[in-house]
Amino acid sequence: MPGVPLQDVWTDIPPLHNLAAERLGYPTQKPQALLERIIRASSSEGDTVLDPFCGCGTAVAAAQALKRRWIGIDITHLAIGLIKQRLLDSYGERISEAYRVIGEPVSVPDAERLAAEDPYQFQWWALGLVGARPTVQKKGADKGVDGRRFFHDDKTGETKQIIFSVKAGELHATYVRDLRGVVEREKAAIGVMISFQEPTKPMRTEAASAGFYTSLWGSHPRIQLRTVADLLAGTGIEYPPTRADATFKKAPRATYDEPTDRELPLQMVAERPEPPRHPRAKRRRP
Ligand SMILES: C[S@@+](CC[C@H](N)C(=O)[O-])C[C@H]1O[C@@H](n2cnc3c(N)ncnc32)[C@H](O)[C@@H]1O
Repeated sequence: MPGVPLQDVWTDIPPLHNLAAERLGYPTQKPQALLERIIRASSSEGDTVLDPFCGCGTAVAAAQALKRRWIGIDITHLAIGLIKQRLLDSYGERISEAYRVIGEPVSVPDAERLAAEDPYQFQWWALGLVGARPTVQKKGADKGVDGRRFFHDDKTGETKQIIFSVKAGELHATYVRDLRGVVEREKAAIGVMISFQEPTKPMRTEAASAGFYTSLWGSHPRIQLRTVADLLAGTGIEYPPTRADATFKKAPRATYDEPTDRELPLQMVAERPEPPRHPRAKRRRP
């Protein structure tokens, strides 16, 4: 109630429900208003806030909003990717100049080491490079799909998708054809294969023969092949402008809002349901 000091039990900040605009798909996500209240009550502008299990970064986002310095620590690349996207959505591209990520791969050998140590973490990291959301590998629905990125590019409001396939190991001749099949099955706009190894000429020919996805902004190759080295060098994927990106629920600054209850595959952290599909990363040929 206005004018009444806060009591020991706070009931005025509702928990996040599944379709809340703020919701990013992280099952344990807290309302940002709650974290802002705690931070406001216990620190001043310029102080440093530390969240050593920062998940989807609610404390980080609240600290940034309240002009605190902050440190977030998390053990998964899934969380780190999500926080980067959250900050980007809330504060725009320049926010990346305001913080540093320590512990992520910054070179191909770093990425190879990560892939050899933990293929899931590698996959999450690689998908994070292209703003994609990891899928849980199931035998049925998501077979052949490692990640997805959603977008809207016309006035119909129809959600379009880009499908990602991440190949940490040796490339096989059939991979591009398989991806093409998955793109057709899923009626996706674009399919992207991310690999360590350089695709062979026949793979590139197969990719080129898939043609283009046409949007109001032009034509975008329907099948795109990117190496980890390409992505680290800043070669992104070609698709309609990201203004209407619907992959992650937009963090608060965004005016765009699309209800979704897609959860992130966090159970993979605890359960590791299937053996890794890419046991060891192969070194690229010089
Ligand atoms: C309950 S969630 C945090 C939720 C977060 N406060 C929020 O509002 O989104 C716990 C997080 O701790 C991370 N975690 C687990 N063990 C860890 C460790 N040893 N070091 C750092 N992070 C860890 C998990 O990856 C997970 O993201």
